[in-house]
Amino acid sequence: GSTLHAAASEKGRYFGTAIAAGRMNDATYMGIVDREFGMITAENEMKMDATEPNRGQFSYTNGDRIVNDALGKGKKVRGHTLAWHAQQPGWMQSMSGSALRQALLNHVTQVATHYKGKIYAWDVVNEAFADDGRGSRRDSNLQRTGNDWIEAAFRAARAADPGAKLCYNDYGTDSINPKSTAVYDMVRDFKARGVPIDCVGFQSHFGTTIPSDYRANLQRFADLGVDVQITELDIEQGSNQANAYRQVVEACLAVSRCTGITVWGVRDTDSWRTGKNPLLFDGNGNKKAAYTSTLNALNAG
Ligand code: G3I
Repeated sequence: GSTLHAAASEKGRYFGTAIAAGRMNDATYMGIVDREFGMITAENEMKMDATEPNRGQFSYTNGDRIVNDALGKGKKVRGHTLAWHAQQPGWMQSMSGSALRQALLNHVTQVATHYKGKIYAWDVVNEAFADDGRGSRRDSNLQRTGNDWIEAAFRAARAADPGAKLCYNDYGTDSINPKSTAVYDMVRDFKARGVPIDCVGFQSHFGTTIPSDYRANLQRFADLGVDVQITELDIEQGSNQANAYRQVVEACLAVSRCTGITVWGVRDTDSWRTGKNPLLFDGNGNKKAAYTSTLNALNAG
């Protein structure tokens, strides 16, 4: 394949990017998106604050713009995200208890229903585990509604859009560590009890290197009977960047249930990681060495 998604497709995978609705009129940007990527994630436009700015009042303009543009061009969409401790609308931030639980499940139901049939996979729940080295749940207003809030969200999402794959998505779970093991235990428990979960997303926001047990970690999750996906990849620029991108592709291709890779932005100047130049295209939209190594790794073997 001569583009990222074409090469990935030949390996039975997708290659995607996050995009921002506010950049869709930038011809250089959209030219790269249209040419290189087959899976689209809205960087912010489908989050809770964007889709339900006032309680019970839903706003889909920017999310629809991204989703309909992608589908119209034959691309697929990862939905991001139905439930998260961050980027909650103000009205939700101040809620708690059963009222919050009800508001959360209504949000999941409404948004998943609006996009029913259009989403390849939803990040149903994002970043629900803590970074305390003990594998604890992250404290949040959602967690304080009861430990079962995650499975309640997954059940509501399945009921609303039975055709979408339902994922749990997190960062810092890319290697084998207490946090990823806590997620692993949750997924194993969900599978054992019939809680609907189809995939786990590994955000993969990396420094200059990738964990040595990255592939092994993806494989242990796949062995639970879920797909695994690399959902928000970016790698800090340094002398190792091209090599690190190659290693990420090789890890995914080595795990048969690793269904695809999404990078978290197009050009370095589009990245949330200011000054780190962590993406595949430079600020002018030119292909970087990391692009070439990624494409070559997808085409190898
Ligand atoms: O849209 C407003 C704009 O109206 C305002 O003028 C401007 C001034 O601050 O802010 C704009 O909103 C910003 C938004 O990005 C759009 O640019 C928010 O302040 C800013 O907080 C927001 O950052 C996003 C961040 O999630 C928020 O948590 C990043 O773009 C986005 O890349 C990042 O993505 C997350 C994933 O969802 C989950 N995993 C981690 C990843 C990186 O943090």
